[in-house]
This record gives sequence, structure tokens and C-alpha cells, in this order.
Amino acid sequence: MQDGRLSTRHLLGIKYITTQDIELIFSAAKQFKEVINRPIKKVPSLRDVTIANLFFENSTRTKLSFELAEKRLSADVVNFSSSSSSVKKGETLLDTVNNILSMKVDMIVMRHPAPGAHYFLSQHIDAQIINAGDGTHEHPTQALLDAYSMQEKVGNLRGKKICIFGDILHSRVALSNIFCLQKLGAKVRVCGPATLIPKHIDKLGVEVSYNLEESLRWCDVANVLRIQLERQDIKYIPSLREYSMYYGITKERLDKLDKEIVIMHPGPMNRGVEISSDVADSDHSIILQQVENGVAIRMAVLFLLAKDRNDLAA
Ligand code: CP
Repeated sequence: MQDGRLSTRHLLGIKYITTQDIELIFSAAKQFKEVINRPIKKVPSLRDVTIANLFFENSTRTKLSFELAEKRLSADVVNFSSSSSSVKKGETLLDTVNNILSMKVDMIVMRHPAPGAHYFLSQHIDAQIINAGDGTHEHPTQALLDAYSMQEKVGNLRGKKICIFGDILHSRVALSNIFCLQKLGAKVRVCGPATLIPKHIDKLGVEVSYNLEESLRWCDVANVLRIQLERQDIKYIPSLREYSMYYGITKERLDKLDKEIVIMHPGPMNRGVEISSDVADSDHSIILQQVENGVAIRMAVLFLLAKDRNDLAA
């Protein structure tokens, strides 16, 4: 168990962490999940640690989940949103972050539209960085909470069949999920229209399918992604209506399966497009459990990274 320590100072992506790191995070998350279900949900672990949440892109779940995780660990928290900042006046990312760090901030949680922005920062600043989503690249804490939620539902993921449905091309959740699930020994498939599946994704060792019904029959868990219209500069599908007809996960389609299946979605959902309301709200769905687990997973990541910071300071 690596002496209870992560192999990395930052969480830039799942690609850069080990299977032992993932298991260590899950083990800490299990304990933090107990904490946040107690009447007193707070522990003093990150007292005297100051964390800045920098969001250069919109977020509901990730932003609130990190903030709650930080507060439940007793950290001091400041929030930054690019839409109301001096970024609008032309300040660079590095200048913005260096100014925030001058106010004695210890850790940065950042969402940024540019893939690799976190790696770039890690080369120029001393503070620890957690990636809360970088463009179409990675969203590591989402993949960790997804895999943790799957494990809670179906047990050890080794040999389990997980299919990621939808807009794989524009999804940072897909890439982080693929890395995380493969490190845990799962068999991973992606399924969607050919225009929304990256050309060489099979080189990552995932199966590719364009057939929704067959993929639903194949998998133990279906992780359904939304169509990311905001990242689509050209038309990849004829219409949302047509997408929904061919690739929407509906009750009618699930009723035809003669087996148990777990339905997940990282949010935000487009109800009636990639997933119907009766599926999203059904007993198959663990969508709200994913959100609950997100706080525990983020507490675990922050706690384990801060351990490294304390060692450096000693
Ligand atoms: N899953 C996810 O990243 O949601 P938000 O964009 O609301 O943070």
C-alpha cells in the first residue's frame, strides 16, 4: 500500500497514477463516507491548509463537491470563477494563479477548458494541483468516483464489463474512466455513433461498438455520457431526435434485457436525449449515489495529497 502515500504530488490525470494509488484513495474514501454520514460531518485533517478552487468553466457537481469536501476536512477555502475575474481584462493563467498563490494558498483545484493546463501549471508553480477537468482531456476525480460507485454496486471490477455510451470524442470523463477501469482490471467498451468515437481509440485497448442494443446486452454497467453540444464546432449528428432514437437509453430497451444492469451518468444529464427520465430515476440508476460518493472521493484525494505537503513542510 505504498506506506499510505500516493505516488504523486498532484492529481493531473488517472494516466499518471498507479493502481495502488487508486486503491489507497478508495480505502480513504470508504472511511470519509462514514464521516459524512455522521451527524457531525467534519474532521480537522486539513486545518491550516488553504485551498483555492479555480473554475474557468461552468460546473455544478464538481465545484460544490470539492468545496464541501474541503470544508468537511476543515480547510480554508476560496473560490474563483473566471467569468467575474480579471481574466476578462486579459490576465494570463500563470499570472492569475501566481497572484492567488501570493495570498498563501497551498493547493489549487482547477477546471480549465485547455487540455494540459494543469500539467503546464505544475511545471511553473510549487503548490499542489488537482485537475477538476481539463477540456476534452481528463477528469480524474469523476473517474475515481465512478469506479468507486461501480465497485460498491457490482463488487471487484476485475473482469467486469463496462460500456461507456455516447459522445466519447468530446468527453474527458470517457478518457479518465478508460484509464481508471483498465487499471482496476475491467473490460472496457465504448459505444456511440462513429462520428463521436475517436478514430484510434482501440489503441487504448478498448472495444468499439456502434450497436447500442448489443452493447447493452454485453455490459454489466452502462456509463452514459451526454452529447456535448458546446464543444461541437461542426455537426456530428443529424439531430438530437435522431441521436435519441438510435442511442438513447430507454426503459423499453432495458426491459428487453433479461439481466441486471447498472446505469450511471456523470451529469449534467440531457433527459430525453441520451437517457430517458424513467431510466434516470429507475432502480437501475446509481446517478445520485455517484454524486454522494464524489464528496468522499474528493476528501480522500485532498487528504492524501495534503499528507505529502505536510511531509515537505516538516
Ligand atoms: N460531472 C461533472 O463534472 O459535472 P459538473 O460539470 O456539474 O461539475
